[in-house]
Amino acid sequence: MRETFRFFGRRKGKAITGIRAEMLDKWLPQLTPKIPKRGKIQLKFGIIPQKMVLEVGFGGGEHLAELAKRETTTGFLGAEVFLNGVASLLAHLNGSHRSGTGKLELEPKRVDNIRIWPEDIRLLFDKLPEGIFNEIYVLYPDPWPKKRHAQRRFINDDNIPELWRLLAPKGKIYLATDVAAYAEWALDRMKESKLFSQIKKDIFTPPKGWISTRYEQKGLAAGRQPNYMIFQKKDKKVKKSLTKQKK
Ligand SMILES: C[S@@+](CC[C@H](N)C(=O)[O-])C[C@H]1O[C@@H](n2cnc3c(N)ncnc32)[C@H](O)[C@@H]1O
Repeated sequence: MRETFRFFGRRKGKAITGIRAEMLDKWLPQLTPKIPKRGKIQLKFGIIPQKMVLEVGFGGGEHLAELAKRETTTGFLGAEVFLNGVASLLAHLNGSHRSGTGKLELEPKRVDNIRIWPEDIRLLFDKLPEGIFNEIYVLYPDPWPKKRHAQRRFINDDNIPELWRLLAPKGKIYLATDVAAYAEWALDRMKESKLFSQIKKDIFTPPKGWISTRYEQKGLAAGRQPNYMIFQKKDKKVKKSLTKQKK
């Protein structure tokens, strides 16, 4: 595993105390995948997953928690660097979200299909098997608005081939942003990579059954327009372009 990647966002916010701290202590270790010294990670769930989904930067976890509740036969891996966000996801799973009070009751069924990586997802890229995910969600990634910081954006020339590798044939990336410059950048980067087709032409309306996130709600309240993009992995003929890029 690559030991370091420079991460520019926030890792911690206000002090985590009380029931949230307890949840992190008790539950997080059992929900975090073990990284083998050699070979690839085997994600183990309490179900036999029919489908696999990754959410990168799940923030407060509302999207991940709701999708996992809807799709009980899908295995989910959620990655989030911000520890307070991880605690918030656990609170959703405890059913005492926001109040920060109540009993610790991690329902086994509720977490049978969720695993959590409380770190930078890039650290797992070379540890996850090729083609493991059917869908990858990147919802409201940090925008890095300055031009000189653009390569810090999660959708960039380093990460696009990694996401391609992790997706199963015909796998999809769901990307949402309310920063027009990010949407434009992502569409350009993905097009130039030649690894994905953009399959949702109307980017201003949400896909059917869309689960809104905290960032989306904030943006809507501030009058920002969300952009919803779906990219589909191109088939293996395109592998050559990946090889070329890697050289
Ligand atoms: C702007 S927030 C959006 C959160 C959430 N998706 C939402 O829509 O409310 C972006 C989140 O991505 C996380 N993040 C950024 N880069 C990441 C990475 N490489 N691995 C895991 N999480 C990451 C940040 O910590 C932050 O919480």
